[in-house]
Amino acid sequence: MNEKKAVGEKATEFVKDGMVVGLGTGSTMFYTLLKLGQLVKEGLSIQGIPTSIQTAELAKELNIPLAGFKEIEKIDLAIDGADEVDENLNLIKGGGGALLREKIIAKAANQFIVVADPSKMVKTLGSFPLPVEIVPFGAEMTEKHLRELGGSPALRRVNGEPFRTDNGHFILDCIFPSLAQPQELEVSLNKIPGVVENGLFIGMADVLITLNSDHQPILY
Ligand code: 5RP
Repeated sequence: MNEKKAVGEKATEFVKDGMVVGLGTGSTMFYTLLKLGQLVKEGLSIQGIPTSIQTAELAKELNIPLAGFKEIEKIDLAIDGADEVDENLNLIKGGGGALLREKIIAKAANQFIVVADPSKMVKTLGSFPLPVEIVPFGAEMTEKHLRELGGSPALRRVNGEPFRTDNGHFILDCIFPSLAQPQELEVSLNKIPGVVENGLFIGMADVLITLNSDHQPILY
């Protein structure tokens, strides 16, 4: 069974005619987008706000109408994946590098729905290295500040070159010995000059769609 497909498609049940929908990024969202494309073909009328260039390109291929922030007054609903989800629906996101736009859109949405297969569910966040988006200027100094906070940062690379986000920034993937107080860490990280945003999404998710032990989609 394709677990990502099951949770990704389920989220489309929340999408209603006329909605402005934040469109997340990643391999689970791929299935949400495919299903939305099908629904649009069948007559559903929505406007999508993409969280990445990758999502915008796929949405265009699927003829899902897109809007920019200037053209909308609100986002009704945002749907997105996650790298880790704890019991309080706190998240680590940014494995795909889109965390900044994802957080802007999740924050702006009236409802934020997370689609996550059971492998993403954890008791405490932190096994997945926390992505921290930083400006390239002074990256070594920013990295030093992250170490002072207890993190072990590693510059994300692709083919040996620093990975660049859609915003032109770098990503430091950080292991922290403990993420028991993620809310405080989220704030401390964003106080470091050079840090643009981090992948902790604390108290933002309204609904989680995952699978139960019978592999059926279940909502929290
Ligand atoms: C991208 C993200 C993704 O939502 C997260 O990495 C999960 O991706 P996938 O659905 O491919 O497992 O935060 O920045």
